[in-house]
Amino acid sequence: MKIAVGGKGGSGKTTFSGTLARALAQSGHRVLAIDGDSNPNLAVTLGIPGGAAQEIPALPRDLLVDAPADGGARRRMLGRPPAEVIESYGVAGPDGIHLILGGRVGHAGTGCMCGAHARVRTLLGELIGREWQDQDVIVDLEAGLENFSRGTPRSVDAIIVVLEPFYRSMETGRRVWELARELGVGRVWAVANRIRSEADLDAVQSFCEAHGTELIGALPFDEALLDADRAGKAPIDHDPCSPAVMQVRRIAESLFDRPIRGKAGSEAEPA
Ligand SMILES: Nc1ncnc2c1ncn2[C@@H]1O[C@H](COP(=O)(O)OP(=O)(O)O)[C@@H](O)[C@H]1O
Ligand SMILES: [Mg+2]
Repeated sequence: MKIAVGGKGGSGKTTFSGTLARALAQSGHRVLAIDGDSNPNLAVTLGIPGGAAQEIPALPRDLLVDAPADGGARRRMLGRPPAEVIESYGVAGPDGIHLILGGRVGHAGTGCMCGAHARVRTLLGELIGREWQDQDVIVDLEAGLENFSRGTPRSVDAIIVVLEPFYRSMETGRRVWELARELGVGRVWAVANRIRSEADLDAVQSFCEAHGTELIGALPFDEALLDADRAGKAPIDHDPCSPAVMQVRRIAESLFDRPIRGKAGSEAEPA
């Protein structure tokens, strides 16, 4: 399954993405993690130490080529097979995970990041076919909505939006759901984060119900995540059984039992 994780800045996207990737990998899945944030932080939540994370190369600017398409048009595609791209630019992390970095802002005044969006969008679009059937992909999206105007997560199977029980976080979530559906993504789900009370959970649950989005899990506020962040460690390594990590494990287990809603909106059995 290819999953993109979105939501408001600070809602917990990177913490959730990294922990979900590790939880899937620990239960035997082949996982590719893609950091889609130009201020990349996914490596550390996956368990790749800070020093090594600084050295990870971003996908290069010349990765895409123009190729002829039907009707005399041209289309952008990877200049090399996706397996070679992952081999060349993917950095190995714990539990067999590979991490790819879409792009990073290395210097001031160097221009826009639309190329990085195009590279991630194209790579995701080419991870199709039989050889990729058992490849799970988790994309940690940048906060904000530009991913959607650029169609970066267009070809994922599901978008999970991380929501905190506050108006602005949920309102951002609602906009992401709408845009994800406009992109044609078949499954749009929510995960509540930093839940401290029944009232917090009720607020997120009612919001999701009102907007027809399934809430697939709720992570409590968990000091262990903050401790992990302070120590520069992956939450799942710092405390493999902390309450929030256990909730992510539960979500990981449940993902593959969910019905697939195809692009045309029809329900089908999971592949
Ligand atoms: N459930 C939680 N309980 C406590 N702290 C959390 C929780 N989820 C995330 N955090 C902390 O919140 C901060 C922001 O999380 P992060 O995953 O970087 O957010 P985002 O990627 O959405 O900007 C980090 O310091 C992280 O450790
Ligand atoms: Mg982040």
